[in-house]
Amino acid sequence: MSMSDLELLAASLVAKGKGILAADESMPTIKKRFDGVGLESTEATRQAYRDLLFTAPQIEKYLSGVIMFDETIRATARNGTPFARVLADRGIIPGIKVDKGAWRLPNFPGEKVTEGLDGLRDRLMEYREMGARFAKWRAVIAIGDGIPTHYCVEANAHALARYAALCHEQEIVPIVEPEVLMDGDHSIETCEQVTEMTLRLTFNQLRAHRVALEAVILKPNMVVSGKDATEQAGVEQVAERTVRCLRRSVPAAVAGICFLSGGQSPEQATEHLNAMNALGPQPWELSFSYARALQEPVLDAWRGDDSNTDRAQKVFAHRAKCNSEARYGRYTKQMEIMAA
Ligand code: 13P
Repeated sequence: MSMSDLELLAASLVAKGKGILAADESMPTIKKRFDGVGLESTEATRQAYRDLLFTAPQIEKYLSGVIMFDETIRATARNGTPFARVLADRGIIPGIKVDKGAWRLPNFPGEKVTEGLDGLRDRLMEYREMGARFAKWRAVIAIGDGIPTHYCVEANAHALARYAALCHEQEIVPIVEPEVLMDGDHSIETCEQVTEMTLRLTFNQLRAHRVALEAVILKPNMVVSGKDATEQAGVEQVAERTVRCLRRSVPAAVAGICFLSGGQSPEQATEHLNAMNALGPQPWELSFSYARALQEPVLDAWRGDDSNTDRAQKVFAHRAKCNSEARYGRYTKQMEIMAA
């Protein structure tokens, strides 16, 4: 596969009106999500849930790709077809989370570095055999007293760049995800400063590792107030600051930008994306790669009960459609009322 094929693939991940579903929850994370609706996490419930998501009617109109977890890409849907095939047959590009989680960074209290580079080349080869065409690696940057440190951001940026270079070598499009967390009572100004520093250092490392940005998707946080801040910035401010921050730190060569939702409510995440796209054309497509903001209402509607599956799938298609409209700045509250 030539570089231009990888560029085409990256471009198709941000195709008009389409975004990405992150369904790559690790075992502890999916357990936490299921606990929230009183459902036990077993191989069978996880399979049933991912089957519900991946077979939902209409979603191929709004989704370009789905990020899976290791267990899921090795598993089959209820009808026996491998999940990667179920997606590919609908024109949805199969993706895979390849990092091994964020772990304590020694000597840097409160900070983490993402692990998973050892053996990554072999794992990428295996995932590609199983149908994955793109991958995800998430770094987390916490805001707090004296953090983040430059060293922590640099260590995470370095790992992201090593990962991205290996993905290209294995003909896989990397999603580069440096997430500045919402946790804390910091202001939106602080979030903007930390996000800008994080993005600058990440792109410095990508350049140093000779990574072709035309075949990279960036998955950043939006610039928002800390979750516990007394003053919460409104939709317009979030949109303006996020776009300004990205314009200052993300090269125009990048194939596309797909935001994470990070703990925003589903409607907030859609409103913010909508407001950003309403600001007018940017050097890159501004799209979504949400986990919680697409799945929360779906899981809540389903709760592990087969008799709720149809309803839950409709809720999913509705959220996906709202975010698709937000890619054009065409989302309205009316869409939620009509669906309710
Ligand atoms: P959220 O949208 O729930 O933040 O998840 C996105 C993701 O993929 C985290 O890595």
